[in-house]
Amino acid sequence: MLTLTSRNPLKSKAEMLVILVCDTKPLYENKALADLVKKAFSFKEFTGKAGEELVFADPPDANSRRIVFRGLGTLGKVRPENLRRAAGAMVKKAVEWNIGNMTFAVPDARILKMDVAILLTAMIEGARLANYVFETYLEKKKKKKVERIYLATERELVKDHGDLVERVNRICDACLLARTWVSMPANDKTPMVFAGILKNLFAETTVTCRIYPEEDLLAMKFGAMLSVAKGSLNKPALVVMDHNPKNLKDKGKTVVLVGKGVTFDSGGLDLKTAEGMVTMKMDMAGAAAVAAAVYALSGLVQDTRIVGIASLVENMPSGDALRPGDIVRSYSGKSIEIGNTDAEGRLILADALSWAADTFQPDLMIDLATLTGACMVALGDKIAGLFTKDLALARAMQISGEKSGDECWPMPMPEDYKDLLKSDFADIRNMSSGKWGGAITAALFLSEFVRETRWAHLDIAGPAYSAKGSDICPPGGTGFGVRLLCELISGKTSLALS
Ligand code: BES
Ligand code: MN
Ligand code: ZN
Repeated sequence: MLTLTSRNPLKSKAEMLVILVCDTKPLYENKALADLVKKAFSFKEFTGKAGEELVFADPPDANSRRIVFRGLGTLGKVRPENLRRAAGAMVKKAVEWNIGNMTFAVPDARILKMDVAILLTAMIEGARLANYVFETYLEKKKKKKVERIYLATERELVKDHGDLVERVNRICDACLLARTWVSMPANDKTPMVFAGILKNLFAETTVTCRIYPEEDLLAMKFGAMLSVAKGSLNKPALVVMDHNPKNLKDKGKTVVLVGKGVTFDSGGLDLKTAEGMVTMKMDMAGAAAVAAAVYALSGLVQDTRIVGIASLVENMPSGDALRPGDIVRSYSGKSIEIGNTDAEGRLILADALSWAADTFQPDLMIDLATLTGACMVALGDKIAGLFTKDLALARAMQISGEKSGDECWPMPMPEDYKDLLKSDFADIRNMSSGKWGGAITAALFLSEFVRETRWAHLDIAGPAYSAKGSDICPPGGTGFGVRLLCELISGKTSLALS
């Protein structure tokens, strides 16, 4: 629970009061708070540098049990991401200390020269996203979430930002859902089981959720997706989550979101190494982000139809498994030669993308996929690869990424690299004949299956999962993409779908 309050932070009886500090002057116009910051500065070890902390226990000048001062860095250089991390780090600390309730003294937007809505959003996101533990599988629980978090600010701001708090809370709820699904072990989220989890989630909402099991996929001629699925005893499923608001006039646009949902990627017969396989329960992070985004957006957007599609399969080796050299026929009609069974993501996406293009004729289609290790080589594990030939869309997505904290960076899609996907025997091959540019050739492969649709692909192989964790996220799934999609589709700079 996170609430905005106009209570004086120094009167708050919280177990922990957080005061944010920059290097030169107090970030609070409130004199008592400013005086406290000056007192903190009298300790030479505390200068307000980013990441610095100072604790006052049983402070005489406040009603809370402790005050934690947290450095934000140089005044004038503070970005929303710094606030997100600072708020996150403090909540993380509170979780470690087993604290039940805490209050943040919200800095003055004027002093930070930051838009109030942006400042509040960043602080709420940091606090909410850090207030998360995944201990489903522990016999003895170790940590507890902070029960109540208050952001103390001016009365006017509390009055004006009720909708903002509700919106950001909803987006964070969705992000945490996606994390949990990604962190869950593959034995508890086989495709039909995960499909059932989504069905249950949407049963209580206005979103229509339909599961297409194997028989349907056969009838729908999803040859590429089924070829990946056949090596596993766990049957595949396509989940379609349709947010189709009532009274949508003709001018209502349709957005389709497609997510790669490989619930476990062993590589298939082209088996991964032990090291390469160990985190491959996360290979459904695209599907998780898409489902969670539809969940959040269904409460935020009433003038657009939003269809989420989760393509769920398990990629396993067996006597029935897809072989290198096999040729499969995709839904689109194109035949695909299998160069490598570990390039399975593009196979399941190919069918989902062309089927979605035909079925929904969307004005915009975006897919999210943990598609290539090559993308991690290019951009590291924080930034997603953004592939689209539509420059306006690229710009809108990059800005949404930056605003939301789900960063992505545009990558090229050179036409002539398509030669690398030529097959001697089929219309296209699922693997490049070259060694380099694997994220690009994967995106080019997908581009062959989107018909004429306005489309972008996000390769989230890097940022979808964090082995180490961060200030706002424990190790495991990160929920990457949920915030970006929500910002793009429902945010203020939202893309004009014209
Ligand atoms: N799921 C993997 C990509 C991946 C790797 C995601 C590491 C997250 C972390 C994908 O299915 C895959 O195996 N890609 C291959 C493609 C290659 C065989 C053309 C890769 O990147 O090596
Ligand atoms: Mn693979
Ligand atoms: Zn994969």
